[in-house]
Amino acid sequence: MNKDSKIYVAGHNGMVGSAIVRKLQAEGYTNFVFRTSRELDLRDQKATADFFAIEKPEYVFLAAAKVGGILANKEQKGEYFYDNAMIELNVIHNAYKSGVKKLFFLGSSCIYPKFSEQPIKEEYLMTGHLEPTNDAYAVAKIAGIQMCKAYYEQYGFQSISVMPCNLYGPGDNFDPKTSHVLPALLHKVIEAKEHGDKEIVMWGTGKPKREFLYVDDVASACVFLMNSDVENDIFNVGMGDDIAIKDLLSLICEIVGFEGEITHDLEKPDGTPRKLLDVGKLHDLGWKHEIELREGIEKLYAWYTEHRDNK
Ligand SMILES: NC(=O)c1ccc[n+]([C@@H]2O[C@H](COP(=O)([O-])OP(=O)(O)OC[C@H]3O[C@@H](n4cnc5c(N)ncnc54)[C@H](OP(=O)(O)O)[C@@H]3O)[C@@H](O)[C@H]2O)c1
Repeated sequence: MNKDSKIYVAGHNGMVGSAIVRKLQAEGYTNFVFRTSRELDLRDQKATADFFAIEKPEYVFLAAAKVGGILANKEQKGEYFYDNAMIELNVIHNAYKSGVKKLFFLGSSCIYPKFSEQPIKEEYLMTGHLEPTNDAYAVAKIAGIQMCKAYYEQYGFQSISVMPCNLYGPGDNFDPKTSHVLPALLHKVIEAKEHGDKEIVMWGTGKPKREFLYVDDVASACVFLMNSDVENDIFNVGMGDDIAIKDLLSLICEIVGFEGEITHDLEKPDGTPRKLLDVGKLHDLGWKHEIELREGIEKLYAWYTEHRDNK
């Protein structure tokens, strides 16, 4: 990308999209095109085709999607499938048709089989059954990845897809019904401290391990890959290290200053024991994360304290 290349960030107000915009602006890119979902519903085929035909962006970051935690994914499978599949079909197809030079697609680590060997390599895609709670979302994402591959093979259309681990950071969702694990735990600990609670009850044993990445790091990986010579491929993005959920909760308690006890509700099930991405392929290209977990949580805590009235 040149500093004046016309760049469309789809989902620029979202957690990932806004981090990509921050990164691009920090690196001196100036020529952006943005639309909110109200201005342009990317599920709408004609509106999306018209937008690309008129605006003709040179580069596209596709960070618009319907995103949610386990509960939302499980209860609204139809919507998660339809919205994500439609957004991908419309954006990727019209990006190709309007002459976009390269497209960047945000996937998710939930596309990998539930019982993948650990750490999970990119080549394990479509080698086993998916986690049933989010299979609709995962299949829609896999369709996007395969569409990018097919358009490269048939038309030479360039695109890169990334599969990030759990992301967190400014713009995160703290709604207990739809949020992901890290903001959900942070919210819980802050409330427990404010209410003067003596204990926090954790669901299950807390032994399952998960990998987390600060969203500004994923944005840096996206811009790095967009500027690489890679014409079509998929990459895992993560820290390359994971943490047991109970240790994550202890770390959050330490950061927030909650001194009560952590107890366990063992009636509640544990999830998949481990989901660690193998990030060797991206490391080999020369990219590595910069923000470690403690620093990232401290930043998120500060951001949330400042913005929570608007949440
Ligand atoms: N969050 C994570 O932990 C995580 C992990 C791995 C991968 N990812 C991937 O990263 C991408 C972005 O996630 P995020 O966390 O940034 O989500 P987010 O904060 O919910 O943002 C999603 C954005 O998508 C836009 N959008 C949704 N439906 C749309 C529609 N019909 N038409 C146009 N725009 C629409 C929204 O635009 P408006 O604000 O204008 O409504 C919103 O800004 C997703 O593909 C997700 O799978 C996220």
